[in-house]
Parts: sequence; C-alpha cells; structure tokens
Amino acid sequence: MGINCTKSPKVKPQHQNQQVESGTSAPHSGSLSRRASDSDRMATDKEKDVKENSKSTLGGGEDDEEISLKEYRLCQSEDLQENEMKVFEAGEKQVLVVKENGKVYAMGAKCTHFGAPLNSGIFCKGKIYCPWHGACFNSKTGDIEEFPALDPIPVYPVNIDPTTNEVKVTLRNNSHLSSQNATKTLCKASEDNSEIVVIIGSGAAGHSCAETLRQEGFSGRVIIVTKDESLPYDRTKLSKAMNLEANKLSLRSNEYYSKGDIEFVYKVGVQGVDVEAKSVLLSNGDILKYSYLVIATGGRPRPIPCPGTHLANIFLLRTPKDANQIHAFANNKEVHVVIVGTSFIGMEVAAYLVDKAASVTVVGRSSTPFVHVFGPLIGKRLQQLHEEKGVKFIMDTEVGELLGNEDGNLTEVCLTSGRVLKADILVAGLGVLPSTDFLRDSEIILDSRGFVPVDERMRTNCSDVYAVGDIASFPLRAKEECDARKLVNIGHWQMALHHGRTAALTILGLSQPINETTVPFFWSSMFGKSVRYCGYAPDFDDVIVHGDIDNLKFAAFLCEKETVLAVVTMNYDPLAIQFAALLRQQKILLKSDVINDPQSWTTILQET
Ligand SMILES: Cc1cc2nc3c(=O)[nH]c(=O)nc-3n(C[C@H](O)[C@H](O)[C@H](O)COP(=O)(O)OP(=O)(O)OC[C@H]3O[C@@H](n4cnc5c(N)ncnc54)[C@H](O)[C@@H]3O)c2cc1C
Ligand code: FES
Repeated sequence: MGINCTKSPKVKPQHQNQQVESGTSAPHSGSLSRRASDSDRMATDKEKDVKENSKSTLGGGEDDEEISLKEYRLCQSEDLQENEMKVFEAGEKQVLVVKENGKVYAMGAKCTHFGAPLNSGIFCKGKIYCPWHGACFNSKTGDIEEFPALDPIPVYPVNIDPTTNEVKVTLRNNSHLSSQNATKTLCKASEDNSEIVVIIGSGAAGHSCAETLRQEGFSGRVIIVTKDESLPYDRTKLSKAMNLEANKLSLRSNEYYSKGDIEFVYKVGVQGVDVEAKSVLLSNGDILKYSYLVIATGGRPRPIPCPGTHLANIFLLRTPKDANQIHAFANNKEVHVVIVGTSFIGMEVAAYLVDKAASVTVVGRSSTPFVHVFGPLIGKRLQQLHEEKGVKFIMDTEVGELLGNEDGNLTEVCLTSGRVLKADILVAGLGVLPSTDFLRDSEIILDSRGFVPVDERMRTNCSDVYAVGDIASFPLRAKEECDARKLVNIGHWQMALHHGRTAALTILGLSQPINETTVPFFWSSMFGKSVRYCGYAPDFDDVIVHGDIDNLKFAAFLCEKETVLAVVTMNYDPLAIQFAALLRQQKILLKSDVINDPQSWTTILQET
C-alpha cells in the first residue's frame, strides 16, 4: 500500500496486569456509613517481610526482577464500617480500604488521572468515584469504569487474621515499581490475523479506541491516521497551561504504543471514504484498506464570521502549536488581547492571560458568560471573578470587522455596537464545527449540522464504520422517559474517551450500549478554581442554587420541568459525583427532591 506507517519493534513479553480480586471476608461488618472518612491512619510498624523471587503476578516488572513483598497491618476489621473509605499509610504508599457486604478491599489511594485523593470522593455499590473529574473505578479489580483516568488503580491482596481480626495488605516495595497506576497490558499484532482497524484521528476518542482494542486482545493491525504531528495528547490542558509543549502533554509514550503495535501515520489527512471498497483515501494519495473504520476526527474551531481574518495574530485554539503561539505572543505587558466568545475556551484563556498581557478584554454575544450552560447567576459570578482579576468584558455585542496596519498585523477590533478596541492579538473561542467535510461524498450519513448519527454502540449507517468523539451524535440516557432515541452530541473529553472504548468493544463483540455505561461529566478551571458539571441539560428551564455563590461555594441543579438533568458545583464536593452515581444507577432526581435540601437525596445511592 505504500503508506508511511510507524512499525513497532519487537519487545519482551509483558506480565499480566494486576487484576486480582482482593476482597476477603471480614468477621464483623459495621453499620451503614454514608461516605468516606477523610482521616488518614498510620499502619503499625509491625511489618512482615515476605521477600520472594517472583515472576510478578502484580504486573509491570522485568522478567528476572526480585520482587520484594511486604505485609502491613492496617487496622482491626471492626474499625471499618460498611461502605466507608479509609486511608492508611503502608510504608511509602497510601492504601485506600473499603468494606462492602462484609468483604474488605484495598487499593491505591490516588486517582490515576491527576492524583486526586480518592477518599474525598464516594464509594458506592462497588465503585469508587473520583471527586475531581468524575473518573470511576471498580473497587474489586481497580478497573476504570469511567474516564478520564486512563489507568486502573492498583488493588492489593487483603488478609484478615482469623484470630486477631487484623486487616493486613501485601504490597510490593521495589521503588521503581511503586507507581500508583496499574497500566493494563496491551496485546500485540499477530500475522495470523489479517484484519485491519483504521482509526481516523488521534485525539481522545481515537487514542482510546486503539488502546482498548489492544487491551482487550485484538490482534489484527491497528492504524491511526492523523493530521497531528505527534503522539495523542491531553487537549484539555491547552487552555489552562498554554505554554506546555506537545511532548509534555502526551497521553502515553511512544514506547507504549510500540509495545501494543499501534501504528501511526502522522501529518496525513483522510480525504475520502469508499465504504463499498472498504478503503480510505489519504492526502498523500495513498489508499488504505480497512476491515473496520473508526472515524474520530473531532471538531475544528468555528471561524470568526467577519472581514479582516486574514490579518496576522488572529488565533483559534485547538492544538499545542496554537496554544504555544498565543502564549508566546501574549506573554508581554505591552500586548492587548481581545478574546471573542464567553464559553469555556474564551474564559479559560482570559484567566490564563490576564496577568501576562497589558490587557485582556472578552467580547460576548450574550448578556452573561456561560448563560446557556450554567444559567445567569453562576455566569455573572464567574464574570465577576474574572473582573476581580482584571479581565474586562463587553457583552451583548459582536465583532463586525478586524483592522490592521500596513504590515498586515491586527491593530483594532470593531464591534457591531460601534465600539473600537485596540488589539494586538485576538483569540476566538466560538465553539467547534465537526470535522466531517471529507465524508460528504461518502455513503456515511451526516445530520444537517455535519455530525455523524450513530447507535448506542457507535455504529454508523454503514457496516463496519463507527463514529466517535466530538463528531458523533449518539443516544443518551438522560432523557429516556420522554425520548429514548434522541441523539445528542457532547464535546467532552471524558465522553470522547468513552466513545472510543465503546467502538473498540463493539468491534470485538463485547460492547454494552453507551447509554447504560456512561454519564456526561466535564470540568473547567479558572484562577485555580474548578467548576464541575455532571449530566446533560441543554434546555433547562430552572436552576435551583444552594450554597454561597458569592463565595464560589455552591451546588446548582439544572432542571427541565420537574426533573433535575444536570448538577453544577464549585467547592461543593462530592455532590457532582454523587449525581453521577445516581445517573449510573439509572435513577432520577426530581426538582422536589432538591428544592429545600441539596444533599438529603444522596441516601438513595446506597439503596438497592
Ligand atoms: C482548548 C480546549 C480545552 C478543552 N478543555 C476541556 C475540559 O476542560 N474538559 C472537557 O471535558 N473537555 C474539554 N475540551 C473538549 C475536549 O478536548 C474534546 O471534547 C475532545 O478532545 C474530543 O476528542 P475527539 O477525539 O473527538 O477529537 P479531537 O481531540 O479534536 O481529535 C481529532 C483528531 O482528528 C484528527 N483529524 C481531524 N480531521 C482529520 C482528517 N480528515 N484526517 C486525519 N485526521 C484528522 C486531528 O488531527 C485530531 O488528531 C477542550 C477542548 C479544547 C480545544
Ligand atoms: S483526578 Fe480523578 S478524575 Fe481527574
């Protein structure tokens, strides 16, 4: 076929991943406790060395590595209450311990995404929910049940002494093996399997699809064709840490993908798909055959619809290069920045740049930032937060024209209100359009906005063709009572990862319907403060707010008619993930449940 694929070198066989059930029956079980205790407890120094030469079943070591195992006494079994989470120190590690139905389970105490302490989340029906960005882990296996974490948490064997009731865990102590993550083993390609999965796009969805295929044993070829220049990276950081270079944002290392024989074709766009011939046409003229095609091309920033966009120093933000260029230009006390758009990208970029540039002015079409996502009260408060830090806002207006100097550099932004702003750089955050133009001549159906409709297993109308991530229009549970088949598109990092995984599992015949396995969750951060949003409520008609918006400590319930469809929180953990747990249990929250008290409903999470 003549395509320039990165071939993987042969590598040594890897160990099996740590996927053992570590639960052990406890002699006593305590009374029901609502949620975690935050107290860290020290294990006694009574440690028993259990050194042994081992081909580790705990995963990750080298073949001839001497694995040092140590047993630590954590507590008495009766110290653990049913459904409670407690953290103990065991050597240099922190161990999270839970008890469910009388069994005790031990695991790593930190989330494998950004390291949140999991005991500040919730433990509910065999799942540990991370409070920061909604990741969810199985307490018996450590497996990921919800992204954005990419790795399971390690689980540790538990032993309860039948005579003393002491709870003990066994840990490895080799320092280089002491990672909090338990990365799953990838299988390799086999010459016996002639199937080829072609994935178009190396964003969250494409990465997740490729990784899942190999984690779950697919042994054909996996080829990612991407316009990107480098390894899949964490796009969510681009508006929060704009000076980070692409290689600092990578989701996985080159070696990791090589180990799983995941092939990349970089800097090449797919220009067309022939579903009859089962092939894609690449921008370098090559034709690539597929057995299964996964389209994961994401969004492209919506351009500014006015004259003057040819001028220099006008930026859209989608790639590390964009972010780095904006940072390099605007990190200058003589530079005036205009940001167009008041949703997440615009507001996060304003927060990032305000202490770096001479001025930052945000221009918005609505009366209040985030008004369509959070409602006016929260939107107004977040605007104030920005204003307190020096960001200026000009709302209820649009950009009419961009003017420049004789060198072709931007100098002024003319608003439709008649106002003219001095500007050295403009950053537009006007939302995204699906990158699906290359599908227009294919048999693959697009909707009127260019999204690709899929079913609950990410299948398009064409056999063996899947669409995932920002481009997919998929069925979501949140509205099941009124319209189970309503298709939505949700541009969240976590959702894109989940889509990719679901498509991979569908290819392998293992998937469950997406509307039964995931709950939308996203976050944003500005000035070190995080907003968490769980659910999906594009048409909310009421917002019930509890807490103190002025002090940025609140929980807001977005309702449509009598049902709560989404929860927004700031400084109000773990309410957002409690709502996630509720939706995962397919339960419904009514407006009347939260009108007087934001939290009393959470007791139903432990009910059968
Ligand atoms: C600056 C920024 C900040 C964000 N912050 C957050 C956040 O805090 N929380 C959150 O939940 N979400 C956030 N998001 C949204 C999140 O990043 C997206 O939902 C997610 O990246 C979508 O993943 P995807 O795989 O569908 O598409 P993308 O990540 O956009 O990846 C698309 C891939 O397709 C490739 N491609 C496109 N067209 C072609 C073609 N024709 N041929 C070959 N390759 C092609 C691209 O090069 C890219 O590799 C943010 C987005 C941006 C831009
Ligand atoms: S730190 Fe746990 S989900 Fe991000």
